Amino acid sequence: DCKIIELPKFLDVRGNLSFVEQNNHIPFEIKRTYWIYDVPGGECRGSHAFRNTEEFIVALSGGFDVIVDDGERQNKFTLNRSYYGLYIPKGLWRRIDNFSTNSLALEFASTSYIPDDYIRNYDDYLQLKSNGEI
Ligand code: TYD
Repeated sequence: DCKIIELPKFLDVRGNLSFVEQNNHIPFEIKRTYWIYDVPGGECRGSHAFRNTEEFIVALSGGFDVIVDDGERQNKFTLNRSYYGLYIPKGLWRRIDNFSTNSLALEFASTSYIPDDYIRNYDDYLQLKSNGEI
């Protein structure tokens, strides 16, 4: 159910405009927004899964790859246009890498920041999946 969602875009000689609305383009209520920036070349962020958090990621500037893993299969989504977003349901392992220079990853989340919602160890993730706990 991880999917790329095309956002509205208004092309204009004065500059383009796109937008998102919660419960519409973003299929959940937004509780938190954060962004990742100034990523040094070769670095990777967000290697973890969430028990309950759904996310929506937009490459506001530049580009990067989001690799999503359900414990059996991996899928790579390349984001490099500001009018596409990637929806990631809860319970999927994901990491973000291959950041271009000056890229900006904007992330909308369905929960407030709750450290206990993170699963940060891949073996723990596989265990929880096989137990049906996530
Ligand atoms: P972390 O989730 O570990 O980054 P990554 O997505 O690359 O795995 O977050 C890095 C630090 O930022 C960590 O100390 C927790 C803090 N943080 C918050 O306080 N609030 C937030 O909403 C987020 C996403 C992170």
